[in-house]
Amino acid sequence: IHDNYDLLSRWVANYIVGKIKAHQEKTSEPFVLGLPTGSSPVGTYRELVKLNQKGRVSFQNVITFNMDEYVALEESHPESYHSFMYSNFFNHIEIPKENINILDGNAENLEAECLRYEEKIKAVGGIDLFLGGIGNDGHIAFNEPGSSLTSRTRVKTLNTETRMVNSRFFENDLNKVPKLALTVGVGTVMDAKEVVIIVSGHQKSRALHMAVEGGVSHMWTISALQLHHKSMIVCDEGATDEL
Ligand code: GLP
Repeated sequence: IHDNYDLLSRWVANYIVGKIKAHQEKTSEPFVLGLPTGSSPVGTYRELVKLNQKGRVSFQNVITFNMDEYVALEESHPESYHSFMYSNFFNHIEIPKENINILDGNAENLEAECLRYEEKIKAVGGIDLFLGGIGNDGHIAFNEPGSSLTSRTRVKTLNTETRMVNSRFFENDLNKVPKLALTVGVGTVMDAKEVVIIVSGHQKSRALHMAVEGGVSHMWTISALQLHHKSMIVCDEGATDEL
């Protein structure tokens, strides 16, 4: 628990850098990093960019996999997760473009795209560290309440609450928010060697309570991490209001 969002962000960025460096000292294999979108990781991305620009970490041998992407939103749309990732992170660090993996929400065959993604994760040896955030309803990636805790990458219908929360990015017009997304499954996240979740602000406090003090439940998909052998929630004071 950190006093505020800035301290949390700095801590998470330094933690990730430490992990990448420790990995690079041990092996020449790439470090495989799972990444989220949303406001929660923005501060962490900002700090990682600074550390990269200062030469404190290299992303040359890091492979990234994003958690999710809207379906049928142009890649170039300012609110696509592609755009988000490039404008908040990838455009500002030195990383080979071929190391970046983001689900294609415009693929002709969405099921095949999801399968391809799972296979690619497997082919590079699995995810070393999955960074994530959570929705107000405790969803991780776009695994809405009711998602199977063993789910894999798939097409998911977004629930109205999530679309309403995200409508702030679409001129507050619910009709403009996509109804479907591609998302890694809870099982995909659980397979990562380590999971780090950022939870910030009072609006997440009920989800945080359910995540760590409730039982494991598919109605709060983040709670699955109680069963992960190496998972950590990094939060600020605001998020702890219901603990
Ligand atoms: C979306 C994303 C999640 C993210 C959540 C919370 O639903 N698919 O990955 O954790 O939003 O976003 P924020 O961090 O902006 O609260």
